[in-house]
Amino acid sequence: MVRTPAPELGEVLIPADVLQRRIAELGAQITADYRDDPPLLICVLKGAFLFLADLSRAIDLEVEFDFMAVSSYGSATKTSGVVRIVKDLDLDLTDRHVLLVEDIVDSGLTLSFLRRNLEARNPASLEVCALLVREESEVPDLRYTGFRVPNVFVVGYGLDIAEKHRNLPYICVWEGAG
Ligand code: IMP
Ligand code: MG
Repeated sequence: MVRTPAPELGEVLIPADVLQRRIAELGAQITADYRDDPPLLICVLKGAFLFLADLSRAIDLEVEFDFMAVSSYGSATKTSGVVRIVKDLDLDLTDRHVLLVEDIVDSGLTLSFLRRNLEARNPASLEVCALLVREESEVPDLRYTGFRVPNVFVVGYGLDIAEKHRNLPYICVWEGAG
């Protein structure tokens, strides 16, 4: 896709081919780890939708899917950690091997809310696959990580600022005012 970059878009941190290579590796790893118990993939909308689409096609197992939408209170670029479920799951998690697919773990507040919420539904196991994690974040029990990113606001490949730039095929720095 060729598009004139918007002025608020800065440096490309992770080009499309690098993203896809890493996702292929993650998919192979998940395929090996879940060989005997194909996972139920839970996508956290909206940011993880492209990652889920590519990751799931890199997993050579009969996975199932469910979707959950959360919104966190806070400014456009910072979460407060107070999370509200906007769309809940359709499926029952009891005794399922659940793999939560997340776009980015920043403070980790959203993830800890989700972990507590999903654990309460008694899955057989619960692991997390996050495409991006901040360099300085210490995230306990994060089984799969795509890339570490510096503490700058990023957009593209599902991640947005005010719902824009999700469809960029790469991850880049957002340099607008916010
Ligand atoms: P946390 O609760 O601070 O870990 O924030 C996680 C959520 O904030 C993610 O699921 C994203 O929706 C959003 N977020 C955090 N950092 C960024 C960013 O750099 N770009 C776009 N969204 C972000
Ligand atoms: Mg967001």
